[in-house]
Amino acid sequence: MTQTLDGKALAEKIQTQLTAQVTEGLTQWGRPPGLAVLMVGDNPASAAYVRNKERACTKVGIASFGHHFPAQTSQAELIAVIHELNADDRVDGILVQLPLPPHLNAVALLHEIDPDKDADGLHPLNMGRLMRDEQGLRSCTPAGVMRLLKEYEIPLMGKDALVMGRSILVGKPMALMLLAADATVQIAHHKTQDLARLTRGADILVSAVGKPGLITAEMVKPGAVVVDVGINRVVNLDTGKARLVGDVDYESVAPLASAITPVPGGIGPMTVAMLLENTVLSYQQRLGG
Ligand SMILES: NC(=O)c1ccc[n+]([C@@H]2O[C@H](COP(=O)([O-])OP(=O)(O)OC[C@H]3O[C@@H](n4cnc5c(N)ncnc54)[C@H](OP(=O)(O)O)[C@@H]3O)[C@@H](O)[C@H]2O)c1
Repeated sequence: MTQTLDGKALAEKIQTQLTAQVTEGLTQWGRPPGLAVLMVGDNPASAAYVRNKERACTKVGIASFGHHFPAQTSQAELIAVIHELNADDRVDGILVQLPLPPHLNAVALLHEIDPDKDADGLHPLNMGRLMRDEQGLRSCTPAGVMRLLKEYEIPLMGKDALVMGRSILVGKPMALMLLAADATVQIAHHKTQDLARLTRGADILVSAVGKPGLITAEMVKPGAVVVDVGINRVVNLDTGKARLVGDVDYESVAPLASAITPVPGGIGPMTVAMLLENTVLSYQQRLGG
């Protein structure tokens, strides 16, 4: 029997726990946690993600401070806003919605965020803490994967894990988190030779590539745990309707796997839950010491 790793259900459970913590914090400190989301331009996918995050904030009682800038906003203007938010006592978390328009330097902007308000866990200091197994704000998507695997008591120690993708956002921190859980980790990327040989050897297969149908049944070891981070919008040419799919050919792979995440309803909601959790954690640490 294949187990479905239900990220949506776990995210709801986490949100309920966070709501209780926010209510308690409000009584103790007289204000709710605050998350500032900076979005530049009008990329429709980014706009949908931002709406989703703001809705989730409202649900758990986090105050959200949305900042939506026109596409031509300069790096200097954004840096000035980040500095204001760093100094704003109502704000516990700051995130810059990626991708940014090409004239902006995302990495340089992330450096400007106060590491203690780094809700996305992408500041180099927090990345360094992850590298050293020290406590710190963790990158939301891989943290969401780890939490989901923990919830379903998926053993990681000594397992062969393959992470497909090496981005700073997902692949690299994912590999470090699996390594910290004592898995033996390999990382694949677009120059990897014979991808199928690696995937077939993996007990834990995490795909964070962004290519629909990349992982097919022949590439998966029977009994593997398959985590599909990919989110791809595919349009049905007959009906013109769009739907979201992952990197994994779910229909053929699911019967083989011991456990698998669906898309949607897997890692997407877990990412949002981890963002809220990071914001509440920063709030508690900033106000409670
Ligand atoms: N569920 C969520 O909440 C969530 C959050 C973030 C991202 N995502 C999704 O996750 C996917 C990856 O996101 P990202 O930001 O990490 O994307 P990205 O920055 O474009 O990175 C994609 C990675 O995939 C690698 N790659 C490309 N082709 C490959 C192949 N054939 N085999 C193995 N690796 C290959 C690339 O290798 P190179 O480095 O060699 O180019 C790169 O490292 C996207 O679909 C994105 O929408 C989902």
